[in-house]
Amino acid sequence: MSHLKGKVAIVTGSSSGIGQGIAKRLASEGANVVINYSKHGDGADETLKMVDSAGSQGLIVQADVSNVSEAQSLIEQAWQKFGSADILVNNAGVETESSFLDTKEEDFDRIMNVNLKGPFFATQAMVRKLTAAKKPGRIVNISSVHEDMAFPGFATYCASKGGLRMLMRDLAVELGPQGITVNNIAPGAISTPMNKSLLEDKPKLDALLEKIPLRRLGTVEDVAALVAYLASDEAAYVTGATYYIDGGLSRDYHEQ
Ligand SMILES: NC(=O)c1ccc[n+]([C@@H]2O[C@H](COP(=O)([O-])OP(=O)(O)OC[C@H]3O[C@@H](n4cnc5c(N)ncnc54)[C@H](O)[C@@H]3O)[C@@H](O)[C@H]2O)c1
Repeated sequence: MSHLKGKVAIVTGSSSGIGQGIAKRLASEGANVVINYSKHGDGADETLKMVDSAGSQGLIVQADVSNVSEAQSLIEQAWQKFGSADILVNNAGVETESSFLDTKEEDFDRIMNVNLKGPFFATQAMVRKLTAAKKPGRIVNISSVHEDMAFPGFATYCASKGGLRMLMRDLAVELGPQGITVNNIAPGAISTPMNKSLLEDKPKLDALLEKIPLRRLGTVEDVAALVAYLASDEAAYVTGATYYIDGGLSRDYHEQ
């Protein structure tokens, strides 16, 4: 496959889970990939090996996307290394369970800063570069079904992903005239380290599977395939949309 030959993709939080799967897939489509992590260098090294084996070039950049100057530096280093970039995947995200009444300011700030402020300023830095270079581009945010569906115990996470939904819609309108598309992917339950406690709790997992029409969790490959499409030239007319990838979870409603 070489749908992305000659393109450069920046994938935030690509040392693990969905981000790692996206980096691997985009590399297999021919893109050179900027791999980002904040804390786990080992995972980033593993991703680099995957990118290498796909025959593409990779660059690892350590940056905490919740810190504006680090997010800007990530974009800067990507453009410096490859001379240009075409695709930004805002994937890095965190969640913590906490009842609404017990949520502390520091937890609220951490989740909002990684999940919403990070994509905001990374995208801003990327669009400044694209604008200066007079280039079109692709922004893909990994949101969640919780950009739309309630999730009791995760109010901050829901607020961050709901914010990401409106950011995407607004930017699709603002950046459309420059040929920059902006879309969200809203995964349901995907098998990644983020869901470690769920994966280890069989009764809870079985109860969840009952609610998923396709009766399985999603894989990082399922999500990465959708990113590969949205990042490609074939998706040139797609912008302002959220793509659900949840095995039907958000459509399954029972009276009893
Ligand atoms: N796993 C799921 O079921 C699921 C469902 C819906 C949405 N998502 C979203 O998918 C994205 C990826 O989640 P995942 O399941 O792969 O989780 P994960 O925990 O495996 O990976 C998260 C990645 O984000 C990185 N990261 C965290 N904070 C960061 C920061 N401040 N700066 C840079 N990188 C940072 C981590 O290093 C890691 O690489 C998240 O945005 C998450 O909200 C996941």
